[in-house]
Amino acid sequence: MLKLLDTHLYESKAPDSLRHLINYIARAGKYINYSLQMGDLGKAGSQNFSGEDQLALDVLADQTIMENIMVCRLVSAAVSEEQDDVAVCPSCKTGTCGEYVVAFDPLDGSSLVDANLAIGTIMTIYKGNEFLGRTGREQVAALYMLYGPRTTLVYTIGSGVHEFTLNDVGEFTLTRENLVVRDDATHFAPGNLRAVKDDAKYRKVMERWMDEQYTLRYSGGMTPDVNHILLKGQGIFTYPPQGDKYPNGKLRLLFECNPFAFLMEQAGALPWPAISPCWTLKSPNSTNVRPFTLAVSMRWRRWFRN
Ligand code: AHG
Ligand code: MN
Ligand code: MN
Repeated sequence: MLKLLDTHLYESKAPDSLRHLINYIARAGKYINYSLQMGDLGKAGSQNFSGEDQLALDVLADQTIMENIMVCRLVSAAVSEEQDDVAVCPSCKTGTCGEYVVAFDPLDGSSLVDANLAIGTIMTIYKGNEFLGRTGREQVAALYMLYGPRTTLVYTIGSGVHEFTLNDVGEFTLTRENLVVRDDATHFAPGNLRAVKDDAKYRKVMERWMDEQYTLRYSGGMTPDVNHILLKGQGIFTYPPQGDKYPNGKLRLLFECNPFAFLMEQAGALPWPAISPCWTLKSPNSTNVRPFTLAVSMRWRRWFRN
């Protein structure tokens, strides 16, 4: 028997408002999925807050999500990696009518799009009408959609992590329930390997993993790379800081680190650093970056404790 995303959320006792919001987000994902197949793969000619060149698809995905979530009157404010400012609900114009705030990375790994590799959309949802001063602990839901050979949606509302696959009639149906990540990783996904040049500790741990014949599984897109760990049930993802370009790493606390930490924690992994109260948002934009390591087994934890 097929189980729809909406039914799963209902049976998981998601509040109706959260269930509806996730359905609106899923609808945006279906349109993004379509755009990826048919849309312009070129640059938009503009830059985002981080000074990165935007693709036409970055902009389109961003607009698609904003348009879908801003009509439901459940969101008081939303912020995206591709926009400088927080967007306030257009119907109340004060950012007070909705129960939730939503933050998202519309296209994660968009530099891979012209090479036809898998990319994703990452979303996080908080109660209330403010981002500042919030910690990842306060997330009420985190999810991502992965556009690969199949399109999937993986979500948590704090009761496990569940995968849905988009079918031919445009419904996300349950494919795997209660994903679990073990403590004994033998796969590694080493982001920003450039850092080994100056970071002796990072070089050392890479050498150890190679000496121990770990299997490399790294695509350059955080969403498919973390999805690999979640679906295989083991693995380590790292993205350390480096030099003047990325002194605090590259991955954004709000859009990337917190949602994946929540998902990984819900899958039973012990992300290091775990979602920490000190990861407080000082600004709701892409300047909030930090070094990031996920699903580090007990054995390797001391390497990344900092
Ligand atoms: P985005 O496409 O949203 O800017 O994010 C890309 C991120 C992440 O998905 C990936 O882990 C990382 O950037 C890779 O960065 P480098 O190619 O610079 O190592
Ligand atoms: Mn990203
Ligand atoms: Mn992005």
